[in-house]
Amino acid sequence: MRQITLLVAVFLLGTLMIHTLAEEKVEEGSCAKQFNNNQNITVVAAPGPVGPKGDVGPRGHSGTPGEKGVSGAPGKLGPVGLRGEKGEKGEQGPAGEKGAPGTSPPASPVVTFSVVRTTSLLKPSSSTVMMYDTILSNVGGAYKQETGKFVATVGGIYFFTFTGMTPYAPHTNYFILLMKNGSKMVGLHENNGPQSQHQSASNSAILQLQPGDEVWVELQTTDRSLYSDSNRFLTFSGFLIHSG
Ligand SMILES: *[C@@H]1O[C@H](CO)[C@@H](O)[C@H](O)[C@H]1NC(C)=O
Ligand SMILES: *[C@@H]1O[C@H](CO)[C@@H](O)[C@H](O)[C@H]1NC(C)=O
Repeated sequence: MRQITLLVAVFLLGTLMIHTLAEEKVEEGSCAKQFNNNQNITVVAAPGPVGPKGDVGPRGHSGTPGEKGVSGAPGKLGPVGLRGEKGEKGEQGPAGEKGAPGTSPPASPVVTFSVVRTTSLLKPSSSTVMMYDTILSNVGGAYKQETGKFVATVGGIYFFTFTGMTPYAPHTNYFILLMKNGSKMVGLHENNGPQSQHQSASNSAILQLQPGDEVWVELQTTDRSLYSDSNRFLTFSGFLIHSG
């Protein structure tokens, strides 16, 4: 619009008198000359070449904050945390179900023996281990007939008993001992005195034995005698009370 106005003005005023140049003004976007004689005359020339690009201007002010964005996708699983502290003791649980019937404990070993001497032993020259010729029982085989000694194969508590009998004659006597590994356990003694008679007695002991321990009956020293015959007066017996 302004351009058209200016062109019309140039056409109209170009026919009028030309005044001296009073003032010169350059308008933006065009080249114009103004003659001041109470009349403005603007002469428009073709625009020159585009000038070089100006320098980058200063940075503008910060804009107003934008609206809040939508939430992002959940992040990746983090690393395992530290071990927590030990919790408190829990309450007692309910009673369990009744168990199945148990099995019998292993059968305890049976060790028992009973042996008999059917002959007398008259005034041996030294202390003598009593030998018994007849075996009534020997369950477990711990009594050794060839030595007259009981040898424990099972450790435990044993009961032993033995008998003695004097010959039918005055002043005869016996003194016998139950021995364990050469140590005196219990003794038995009788003396007829002036009487011609038989006297019979027994003694017994409960012994705790280790496997390998030996127990036997021994007639002590000389000038002592024991009597027996087919009526089996001299005996030696024992059995295991409890193993372990
Ligand atoms: C000439 O132009 C000037 C500046 O635009 C203006 O102030 C003046 O009044 C004009 N004169 C006439 C006679 O139009
Ligand atoms: C008893 O004697 C037997 C045979 O000599 C031996 O093996 C055993 O270790 C002895 N026992 C003890 C407690 O000394």
